[in-house]
Amino acid sequence: MIKTETLLYDTIRPVSWYANGLRLLDQRQLPSKEVYLDINSTQALSQAIKDMVVRGAPAIGIAAAFGAVLAAQEALAETAKDFTAGFNQRLDLIAASRPTAINLFNALNTARAVVKTMRDPVAELLQWASTWLIDDIQANIDIGEWGAGCFNKNTRVLTHCNAGALATGGYGTALGVIRSAQEKNLLDKIYASETRPWNQGARLTLWELQQDGIPVTLIADSSAASLMQQGLIDWIVVGADTICMNGDIANKIGTYSLAVLAKHHGVKVMVAAPTTTIDWKAQSSEHIVIEQRPSSEILPANYTGDLVTALNPVFDVTPAELISVIVTEKGVIESPDTRKMAALIQ
Ligand code: MRU
Repeated sequence: MIKTETLLYDTIRPVSWYANGLRLLDQRQLPSKEVYLDINSTQALSQAIKDMVVRGAPAIGIAAAFGAVLAAQEALAETAKDFTAGFNQRLDLIAASRPTAINLFNALNTARAVVKTMRDPVAELLQWASTWLIDDIQANIDIGEWGAGCFNKNTRVLTHCNAGALATGGYGTALGVIRSAQEKNLLDKIYASETRPWNQGARLTLWELQQDGIPVTLIADSSAASLMQQGLIDWIVVGADTICMNGDIANKIGTYSLAVLAKHHGVKVMVAAPTTTIDWKAQSSEHIVIEQRPSSEILPANYTGDLVTALNPVFDVTPAELISVIVTEKGVIESPDTRKMAALIQ
């Protein structure tokens, strides 16, 4: 069992199991309102992931793990049908919610495998999903320690999107590193980019660092280049939605631009993610499915018709050659490549 009460900065739990269902902190409403939604069906969960009530790759994976409990409840209630068929059909529905966070598929595929030996699927899947959640928090704490170990004193970091407690079981990946480094008094400055169009940085990263009393400075996405040019940033610290076996990663749109800029300005790039974010079957990024969200999320409402359109890919791929370190709960991989990634399997 993890001892989170000993951690200085650990106050947020976005996904939990409550009575007979999932309780999700509705991230669409932050920072204005702190509202929790109860999710009691696989249909409602699939929609909640699609609508980004819950978001961030590890948090989506945890929600899906608890979704397997809902799937088992629903499949058992359908007495006329075969349990396995009903169960898998419901996991397929959850899987169809968003395509890029591999944690979603890793959790669902594990559920499909472990359920085969279970005599009491609802109770046993609940136990399994609870362990998935606890393991994620522990992984983040370990990532925090490893990641902070890469920093010198007075380090200035820029983080993109939200890879914090809200995007995980708790503590966070990139923000876990930042929390840990803050605790060790290693940070001089933390910048968070807005992360248009959904503003995960402005809305969520600022909210959670404020909750924990950690000072942070917001920047417009477009000012990152200028800050690097002025020598104000030492490390870019981000999470990932998928890590491939050659070290390529997919993360929030804009990560690739930051990595290219970092290379030009001699800034280091850290990707912090648990091993549940690894696609063990993907040799490189070419098979990653990049989610395209509706143009209405970025196109002003007064533009209708076909003349003016918008393109809204919400993730991009950063090749391994632009990444200084990948940090998982197992340690730090410097200049990631296929050989070093393969060593994680042992
Ligand atoms: O569209 P989102 O908000 O789900 O995207 C989240 C990200 O891109 C995060 O950086 C990533 O999932 C890692 S979260 C620890």
